[in-house]
Amino acid sequence: MSVQSTIRRKTAPDIRARKNGEPIVMLTSYHAHTAALVDRYCDVILVGDSLGNVMHGFETTVPVTLEMMILQGHAVMRGSQHALVVVDMPFGSYEASKEQAFHAAVRILKETHCGAVKLEGGERMAETVAFLVERGIPVMGHIGLTPQSINTLGSFRAQGREEGSWEPIENDAKAISQAGAFSVVVEAVAEPLARKITETIAIPTIGIGASAACDGQVLVLEDMLGLSARTPKFVRRYGNLGPMIEAAIEGYATDVRSRAFPGPEHVYGMKTKN
Ligand code: KIV
Repeated sequence: MSVQSTIRRKTAPDIRARKNGEPIVMLTSYHAHTAALVDRYCDVILVGDSLGNVMHGFETTVPVTLEMMILQGHAVMRGSQHALVVVDMPFGSYEASKEQAFHAAVRILKETHCGAVKLEGGERMAETVAFLVERGIPVMGHIGLTPQSINTLGSFRAQGREEGSWEPIENDAKAISQAGAFSVVVEAVAEPLARKITETIAIPTIGIGASAACDGQVLVLEDMLGLSARTPKFVRRYGNLGPMIEAAIEGYATDVRSRAFPGPEHVYGMKTKN
């Protein structure tokens, strides 16, 4: 008897085939419970290393480890059924050599069962992307603003604001596409540059703060839900859950302190002796 699931998940080639087609919808998730919700509406779920900021309160994504990504990647796989799950390769797990990248990516795929990995960097990472893809590992690229390089960039500023600074970013996009990535995240670049890249390269571009000119969009779930303490200026909020959660917690605390908290009699219809 076959034990294969009858539910078919989206794959990296499915997403690659969406170039110039229906826009790709992608959100981050780090937990089984949010993954189950995101899975109903998204083509791709990104287990982003932004979990370092969002879940753990780090200032940057630099401290995030491979173990953290694997733990949350596995949770997201358990919570979802349809979307392609892409797990970020954290800083320090892939830059030293193509072999280091291969071993880290293999751990991510084997231990989470996700469908692809994402890594940051353009031309400098192209050889590594090709090495992984040739060995059966689907790779999503990430160019423009690459948050793992914060210590050399100095700030999270938008990239390619002046036309004179476009060329290296265009070259990054071409290199990642030619290396065999199935799609590329383009972060915080000006609209004309995002449009030019999207029109030039063969793979889908997925924008974050890079305009509607891209083939798809990604946001950090907690940012668009109004749950993050600080959000980038380009994020449109689709909810304001922070105050709702706070009101619920306040209501609970008030009930407990005033002894208005429902006891078991409320649930089981028990009568307490008096
Ligand atoms: O880590 C992350 O959430 C990301 C997105 C911002 C694209 O890389």
